[in-house]
Amino acid sequence: MNKKPAKFDLVVVANRLPVDREVGPDGEAGWRQSPGGLVTGLAPVMKTHDGAWVGWAGTPDEEIEPFDLDGMRLVPVPLSNDEFTQYYEGFSNATLWPLYHDVIAPPEFHRTWWDAYLRVNERFAQAAVTVAAENAVIWIHDYQLQLVPGMIRKLRPDVRIGFFNHIPFPPYEIFAQLPWRKQILHGLLGADLIGFQRPYDSANFLRAVRRNVGTVARNGLVRVTDENGEESHTAKAQSFPISIDAAELERLALKPEIQERARQIREEVGNPEVLMLGVDRMDYTKGIRHRIKAFAELLEDGALSVGEVTLVQIATPSRERLEHYKQIRHDVELAVGRINGEYGGLSTQAVNYLHHSFPRDEMVAFYLAADVMLVTALRDGMNLVAKEYVATRVNHDGALVLSEFTGAADELRQAVLVNPHDITGLKAGIMKAVEMTPRESARRMRALRRRVAEDDVQHWSRMFLETLAGLRRDN
Ligand code: ADP
Ligand code: F6P
Repeated sequence: MNKKPAKFDLVVVANRLPVDREVGPDGEAGWRQSPGGLVTGLAPVMKTHDGAWVGWAGTPDEEIEPFDLDGMRLVPVPLSNDEFTQYYEGFSNATLWPLYHDVIAPPEFHRTWWDAYLRVNERFAQAAVTVAAENAVIWIHDYQLQLVPGMIRKLRPDVRIGFFNHIPFPPYEIFAQLPWRKQILHGLLGADLIGFQRPYDSANFLRAVRRNVGTVARNGLVRVTDENGEESHTAKAQSFPISIDAAELERLALKPEIQERARQIREEVGNPEVLMLGVDRMDYTKGIRHRIKAFAELLEDGALSVGEVTLVQIATPSRERLEHYKQIRHDVELAVGRINGEYGGLSTQAVNYLHHSFPRDEMVAFYLAADVMLVTALRDGMNLVAKEYVATRVNHDGALVLSEFTGAADELRQAVLVNPHDITGLKAGIMKAVEMTPRESARRMRALRRRVAEDDVQHWSRMFLETLAGLRRDN
């Protein structure tokens, strides 16, 4: 029997629900954890709040009734096939995603995609207000839903509205390309609190506001006016770097069966002296090609040799119908094939490539098995993989090679920091990690672990929600 109320004091709104609907080979429908850092970050937070989560169930053209899971009410928002193409693949992931990630791939601008984005954002806003109790907090997440804060403010002036952007907010010179930049800024400014990963993202946003909306921004505060030029409310922009459930990962890392699985993984790849690991969604922002190129050159130079060293590259399938995602998969698979053809043997591979998702326990076993973790993103809002690796290193060993272009690099200063565009520098960073003395590894890992344990995801959500609750309401 459903005992939950129909209205909630906390409503999270994100493009995806924490679980995706999947139909097994037997035709039976089930649920599995959705991909990506947003769900990794938010799911543990929602387990301790009695709230609702509004989001898409991951398959187009399917209407699903609200249901309860892990103490939350899940409220599915349907997307038609056309909306999946135009709002999700199109405007979200072929316009905004590349635009907000340093235009690593060229963004496409299509008016039909924008129309779908508007329409779907309106549907999410309606679904959120339907389950929000009076004076509730509605917390909207990520670039797919930037118009929702403004829409909710119009529908429900009683609620407090928070927005958190999980990906970078670009410098104004790049953001300015967006034909709908003013609408996006007005949409975001509908929130009382707009959170970003880094101070730099928040500063970029405020600069865009100054240039376009014309309101004065000081100390992150923006006086927002409505379409008639009347003062409406004050919005605040601030950085809140997201994190992970560090205690939970540490608990898993201490389990004897997971430690045993880590030993088996090492055995399965030939018990190398050094096991290097990469874990990413298959995305062109993650620098997977750069990492493989650096590794191939180290084998070519003779600095590393197969047998002594192996790379395990896990790449979760992502946004697979989009051209740039097909291209990156093709490039990575070509590079893996070449390097294995050139340097591998019958029983030893240079790169062990796995293009699928794993359960949480298995991911922890991979982290435990790895001597060196390679995070070489060309641009990343945060990168939770880097923090997960650190949290699982319960013996204070292992080394993290971390791109300067991740949000995580602001906090994880004791990692070996690299510029992945500089292949020579990346090779030097990898060698530094491979050759690091146990004493040096332990010194760095202790400091990294302290940081991740203190600033965990519970701290992140508390900071955000307390700041939102503490804002003066003047509307
Ligand atoms: P993004 O949000 O861009 O995908 P993050 O590094 O912030 O990048 O988060 C990725 C999350 O997805 C992490 O929690 C990581 O453990 C998880 N993940 C990545 N690859 C896999 C995989 N193959 N199987 C299961 N979980 C994965
Ligand atoms: O923040 C990164 C992000 O885009 C999340 O919004 C998203 O849930 C995750 O990556 C995975 O991407 P997708 O939902 O497109 O599979």
